[in-house]
Amino acid sequence: MVPVMPDDPRLKLAVQKSGRLTEPSLDLLSRCGLKLSRGKDQLMGFGENMPLDVLFVRDDDIPDLVQEDVCDLGLVGLNVLEEKRLELAARGHPARFQCVRVLDFGRCRLSLAVPEGVAFGGLSSLAGKRIATTYPYLLGRYLRERDVSAEIVVLSGAVEIAPRLGRADAICDLVSTGSTLQANHLREVETVLESHAALIRTPVALPPGKDEWVQRLLKRIEGVQQVRESKYILLHAPRAALAQIRRLLPGCEAPTIIPLEGHPDKVAVHAVCRENVFWETLEDLKKAGASALLVLPVEKMLD
Ligand code: PRP
Ligand code: ZN
Repeated sequence: MVPVMPDDPRLKLAVQKSGRLTEPSLDLLSRCGLKLSRGKDQLMGFGENMPLDVLFVRDDDIPDLVQEDVCDLGLVGLNVLEEKRLELAARGHPARFQCVRVLDFGRCRLSLAVPEGVAFGGLSSLAGKRIATTYPYLLGRYLRERDVSAEIVVLSGAVEIAPRLGRADAICDLVSTGSTLQANHLREVETVLESHAALIRTPVALPPGKDEWVQRLLKRIEGVQQVRESKYILLHAPRAALAQIRRLLPGCEAPTIIPLEGHPDKVAVHAVCRENVFWETLEDLKKAGASALLVLPVEKMLD
């Protein structure tokens, strides 16, 4: 267990130790400027250039670590958060962790799947059957809301092999790329919950120094997420076509218009587009009269 030091001036952020969210979580932190001094195989990473340390833990433990104030922040999937919320509610407690940012990675779904050769005639065909899962509360609610009564077999992992071992007729597990299901000859049949990663924080008020870093981190995360979608676009446009070209620029508020030396009828347009610029857009811009088109990635952004 992680030692609790109430007066520790350094922020503690919990990240999944090994799983789908580990790499994108560390990538996000590194894009936010954090340099970690230890490898992810160790329990803790020390932030060299920020008063922030990363704890590597099981994702299922992250909501508790944060709401019990052992960690100040956590990067975790909505699937884990919602399961925890339902579990706490069943015991008469409200969840105390606070969700402060929805993140643009970790997209997946909690789904029901059956063995490949087995026919599936809708959810009601699972009535009276055994469904293995590590998400008994989310699955229980889903079945209850649809008036289907099935036996929920609660496992702590390796759910995908339960049908082969004869322990269940179906499973309810996370699907991201679908390769785990495929490798285990299972077929996805119903979605129980759509999920993505989120940043959660402790319910406890933080001392000003720590809180300031939380705010800075939130701003940087916003910048990182904006930048992932944004592009810097440069082009030449006939003055006459400027209005139409501006309308074609995706998610762009105010482009910079620069006169072109020796070409009174033409201008250069520089713009930050807050949406991805696709080939189709470039082709449309060209048709509208644009030339010398250039699309560049944006590295950092701060509004
Ligand atoms: C989930 C899930 C599957 C895998 C599915 O694990 O339990 O093993 O991801 O992904 P795929 O469709 O791309 O194959 P996760 O990393 O969330 O860890 P955990 O369930 O072991 O906590
Ligand atoms: Zn887990």
